[in-house]
Amino acid sequence: MAPRKIIIDTDPGQDDAVAILLALASPEEIEVLGVTAVAGNVPLSLTQKNARIVCELAGKPDTKVFAGCDAPIARKLVTAEHVHGKTGLDGPQMADPTMPLQEQHAVDFIIETLRAEPAGTVTLCPLGPLTNIAVAFERAPDIVEKVQEIVLMGGAYFEVGNITPAAEFNIYVDPEAAKIVFGSGVPIVVMPLDVTHKALTTRDRVDAFRDMGSDVGTMVAAWTDFFERFDKEKYGSEGAPLHDPCVIAYLIKPELFSGRHINVEIETQSELTLGMTVADWWRVTDRSANALFMGDMDAAGFFELLADRLARL
Ligand code: RIB
Ligand code: CA
Repeated sequence: MAPRKIIIDTDPGQDDAVAILLALASPEEIEVLGVTAVAGNVPLSLTQKNARIVCELAGKPDTKVFAGCDAPIARKLVTAEHVHGKTGLDGPQMADPTMPLQEQHAVDFIIETLRAEPAGTVTLCPLGPLTNIAVAFERAPDIVEKVQEIVLMGGAYFEVGNITPAAEFNIYVDPEAAKIVFGSGVPIVVMPLDVTHKALTTRDRVDAFRDMGSDVGTMVAAWTDFFERFDKEKYGSEGAPLHDPCVIAYLIKPELFSGRHINVEIETQSELTLGMTVADWWRVTDRSANALFMGDMDAAGFFELLADRLARL
């Protein structure tokens, strides 16, 4: 089967970085048409730089990396240095990238690519706030029906919020963008905190990365060593949830995940629950289903896949 063509929209972030590595390590299943950076975990100037650092670490300096929106559609940017550190990739020392940033704006790249590729052959993989995707849909409504699928990390139902009591970070940062995307009619697969909080690193799993003896393995271990302190402190969990690689793992082995096709609406009015993904998991409304919302995953299988693929780089 031909590899699936994807655009990774991202706000690296240590977990985004692992997701990008996993995608670039899996050419049989995935063709990365481009990596589009968005403001999120850290400002855009850093997310676009970090995306290039990761592509070079993967040994893929020809990957096209674009800078996108530097702020949410209608709100001030909220960042997460408290989780990811000042650079967004805190943990190991990282050299500046040497590969170029593309001149073209990420939103124009998304529009141009969806217009150029055959309809239904490009999957969008947002790993951060949905600003770039929503702005592309608003600026070029004709591309919406051309999208094969959106597979995103964001939201939560049983796990509720990680940035507020009610909201997950990616949705909270730009709820207006999320409302546009979830209301677009594009088939959506959601990797919420309900599953990503099951993708927890453990000492053995991090040691398996370190024991690879490669730059990639050493970096991934150092990133997770740094990144896990936030979740261990807050949730008392054993390790860090590798949120974003769940999106890429789904493209490679969808059978690792299970969920329900349900309605998901985004709260954009209430300050108290702003950015909440109101997931009708129990189908108590007659609102039409607009997303495959994941509820469970095979964490052991996920880490096996991750270690196997990262060892290739
Ligand atoms: O809430 C977790 C999400 O927010 C992840 O994508 C993480 O990288 C941050 O963007
Ligand atoms: Ca992210």
